[in-house]
Amino acid sequence: MRIAIYPGSFDPITNGHLDIIRRAAPLFDQLIVLVVINPDKRPTFSHKERLELIQRVVGDLPNVQVDTYQGLLADYVTAKGACALVKGLRAVTDFEYEFQMALVNKKLAPQTETVFLVTSTQNLYVSSSLVKQVAQFGGDISDFVPEQILPDVTRKLSAGRNNQE
Ligand code: PNS
Repeated sequence: MRIAIYPGSFDPITNGHLDIIRRAAPLFDQLIVLVVINPDKRPTFSHKERLELIQRVVGDLPNVQVDTYQGLLADYVTAKGACALVKGLRAVTDFEYEFQMALVNKKLAPQTETVFLVTSTQNLYVSSSLVKQVAQFGGDISDFVPEQILPDVTRKLSAGRNNQE
């Protein structure tokens, strides 16, 4: 069975992430979207919320599962016997950091290849931090976030805005 892992913060999942998931899923028998918990970061959405938001938008993809994890990614991919790590590349600016992570992960988990999918042009500029910024200032994020989760994501991000007042 060819298992791939798509790791990230997904704080929150965007149309850019969903595009990568939809395009990666047919390439493998199983794709695990992995919400990685970084103890050094203070995410806007809890890991449970992030997992639940992703589950809601991948419901029509039978070979996609969602999981959360705190620790070394190489240990997770080895435990799962994954053949690939999937990453999305938006621009040259993503490349240097992703290249470095791919080399480290290859060193730590030599059996797993990092597979880069180039983002679709309509999502080139979409990122979770941009979504948060736009929503926190009351802007329209409907082009950036899957419609099934748009009301909940907007509500949570607007609540953050009101709390700052
Ligand atoms: O969506 P992000 O925040 O760009 O994702 C980064 C992520 C979660 C993929 C990266 O931080 C990661 O792999 N974290 C797990 C800890 C780890 O294994 N670090 C070494 C990677 S080379």
